[in-house]
Amino acid sequence: MLDRYSMDGKVTIVTGGGTGLGRAMVRALARAGSDIVVASRRPGPIEETAEEVREMGRRALAIPTDVTRSGQVNGMVRHCLQEFGKVDVLINNAAQLGAPRTPIWDMTDDEWHYGIDANLTSAFYCSRAVARAMVSQGSGKIINVSSGYGLRGGRNMYTYTAGKGGMIQLTRTLALSLGPYGVTANTICPGFIPTRGTESFGGSLPRMADRVPIGEFPTPADIGPIAVFLASAASNYMNGEHITIDSGGLAGGFAPTGYAPSIPLEELSRR
Ligand SMILES: NC(=O)c1ccc[n+]([C@@H]2O[C@H](COP(=O)([O-])OP(=O)(O)OC[C@H]3O[C@@H](n4cnc5c(N)ncnc54)[C@H](OP(=O)(O)O)[C@@H]3O)[C@@H](O)[C@H]2O)c1
Repeated sequence: MLDRYSMDGKVTIVTGGGTGLGRAMVRALARAGSDIVVASRRPGPIEETAEEVREMGRRALAIPTDVTRSGQVNGMVRHCLQEFGKVDVLINNAAQLGAPRTPIWDMTDDEWHYGIDANLTSAFYCSRAVARAMVSQGSGKIINVSSGYGLRGGRNMYTYTAGKGGMIQLTRTLALSLGPYGVTANTICPGFIPTRGTESFGGSLPRMADRVPIGEFPTPADIGPIAVFLASAASNYMNGEHITIDSGGLAGGFAPTGYAPSIPLEELSRR
């Protein structure tokens, strides 16, 4: 049964794969056998990640790419196809984390457009760029990384929540439109998982972890097996779905979204 999780001979593109959850997914996919293309703006982190992959005996390319620019995205996918001859899996993981929480009346057009470009349009550009290749090979898997914020509002987080909610809908439309050609799309919705990207949340992690049913947050490595599941034949008949990994935070509508009653669990259980 475990052979269905094998990524041997597959080629996976991971955007934002040089850091945090992206790098953790790259490591897991490479361990499962995939060759990897890592794409984000800074050459340093993606080259380091690609080197790790090569040390595992897989092939890897680091391609500096700004995913808000469709020309750069198309170039990155062309480069992947030239080097590997195909693309089996696309993970749309890059996003703008840590944008300031801004009251709606202070948000500029530019801030809105950049946030939506980084958190949603980027996934559209990358999906469009791989779609023909995947359709002509008759197989492919697109994995969009949304967030608990794709399922809940966040106080003064307009572009992150709207973009991440849009990712779930983009997934469903890709699933319906490309499914007939053998290409599936699914979403991962992480809850809070401490990374460099979440450092703006500050030093209240233990207090926040008290509020999720498991009592602790996942680590980046915990997202790896989920990426392998969705990227591999193990999930062949899943299409248009989302998987949440949040220690149970959203199960009861209680999550660190910036607006939640501050009631410790022990106190709730006494009521
Ligand atoms: N960690 C969490 O708690 C959490 C929770 C829910 C959802 N998520 C989602 O998980 C994903 C990864 O987040 P993370 O926590 O690992 O944060 P992170 O380390 O800050 O990762 C974000 C990545 O996106 C890349 N990126 C940003 N803008 C880009 C652009 N315009 N073009 C290309 N790449 C760009 C960054 O690389 P460069 O700066 O080099 O471009 C970086 O590697 C994101 O989609 C995030 O929304 C995370």
